[in-house]
Amino acid sequence: MDIKVSIGDIVKQKVEAIIVNLFEGVDQPGGATGAVDREMGGLISDLMASGEIRGKEGEVTILHTKGKIAPERVLVIGLGKQSAFDINAIRAAGALACQTLKRIGVQKAATIIHGAGAGSIDIENAIQALVEGSLLGLYEFRNYMTVPADRKEPAELDIVELSGDKKDMLEGGVRRGVVFAEAVKLVRDMGNEPANIMTPSRMAEIATDVSKRHGLLITIMDKVKMTELGMGGILGVSQGSHQEPKLIIMEYRGDSTSKESVGLVGKGITFDSGGISIKPGEGMKDMKGDMAGGAAVIAVIEAIATLKPKINVIGIVPATENMPDGSALKPGDVIKAMNGKTIEIINTDAEGRLILADALCYGVKMGLTPLIDVATLTGACRIALGDICTGAFTNDQKLLNDIIGVTAKSGEYIWQMPMFPEYRNQIKSDVADVQNVGNKLAGAITAAKFLEEFVEKTPWVHLDIAGTSIPEKPGPFAAKGATGVMVRTLAAFLLEKAGK
Ligand code: BES
Ligand code: ZN
Ligand code: ZN
Repeated sequence: MDIKVSIGDIVKQKVEAIIVNLFEGVDQPGGATGAVDREMGGLISDLMASGEIRGKEGEVTILHTKGKIAPERVLVIGLGKQSAFDINAIRAAGALACQTLKRIGVQKAATIIHGAGAGSIDIENAIQALVEGSLLGLYEFRNYMTVPADRKEPAELDIVELSGDKKDMLEGGVRRGVVFAEAVKLVRDMGNEPANIMTPSRMAEIATDVSKRHGLLITIMDKVKMTELGMGGILGVSQGSHQEPKLIIMEYRGDSTSKESVGLVGKGITFDSGGISIKPGEGMKDMKGDMAGGAAVIAVIEAIATLKPKINVIGIVPATENMPDGSALKPGDVIKAMNGKTIEIINTDAEGRLILADALCYGVKMGLTPLIDVATLTGACRIALGDICTGAFTNDQKLLNDIIGVTAKSGEYIWQMPMFPEYRNQIKSDVADVQNVGNKLAGAITAAKFLEEFVEKTPWVHLDIAGTSIPEKPGPFAAKGATGVMVRTLAAFLLEKAGK
């Protein structure tokens, strides 16, 4: 669906449908909804009076105009109570409207910007959220459906604004919205692909395509190079699989005046069977999505390379399967990470931290600062925060505050977990420097404490997306399956950091 900005009067648009809205609990429709109401002889007011339209969140009413005004139809989207309205409500309204357009077969529509002027959301962020919601709400994964969808998605959506003085700003918001949504869709596509297709090599190919498109430097390390560098973590995890491991390094250099580069590190386990500590069969298929962090890093780099802020960002993605063949890692084995630290394997299903250990060491060796990793790391984080909120862990409060700061715009929830030194006791090993799991308690935190061993003094944030990457139920602007969580937050953080 193409999205563009037009200046004009929504009621005058010659389109198959226009989209307006209504807050719950208002007596009289205002703004564009009021204008439609007047020109339609009070139709919306009448439906409000009879209780058919209440403005409730998720409510959509389709009115046929029968030639009374230029648009053929009017969709009235309920926004819920104004007091509870936030930036995610704009995304949800955009998604609901576009899903409805698709359902009724509309190809060309126009919309107002929901919530612009309602409270604290500025118009540029509102339009970006509208674009993200509209595009992401239409997302479906149909790569393996041999029967085509019965409806095509709308071809064109015009976002109509009355006054022309903010056109540049609006177009900037649309551009960011489109780029962010495309990045999220890339992660969803990668996560939804089955693991027999989305192998480490396939991830490397996708990262290579992205890099070629944007003229980025990319390095793909193979086993030989990893052995040379002493990456015992990623090598250890990959040794039970027939798939070759890959370490993907993508470099976006947008600021030649600075020697500093931000490092993004993403867990790229293309299938997590648990290894010798094999997982139960139920739900194991979801472990094809254990590369969501790695995919997010590739997609954020692509978004940043498209928008070109003045900043340097390096993406590092260790990619491998975790499988249980005769040469697989075993509980009790001891391996050595790139920084020389020895790790006793207690449970081979705690593999993400082993590959991240090497990737973080590599980031430290490259001098990247800060380091931000994103990983489907622990079931414990999913238990603690559910599937709506990402867990965050840090050794640098200011850095995490800055990341949490941008979630006011991105609308993605992040909650900080503690990192008290005593948690480290759980991963003390009898035979090595550290062991890869603690006891049953605080599993998300002990995983983070393990990662902390490999970042030295570098300011670092770890984002655990085990809960948020594949929710139990689809969200208002996310279909079933991979969500692409944290892409919009990380991209927004980098733009903000670059001062753009
Ligand atoms: N990939 C899993 C974590 C996960 C769980 C992601 C559920 C998405 C949904 C990770 O590698 C894992 O298996 N972690 C273990 C660690 C345990 C053995 C200490 C876990 O959480 O059970
Ligand atoms: Zn695992
Ligand atoms: Zn895993």
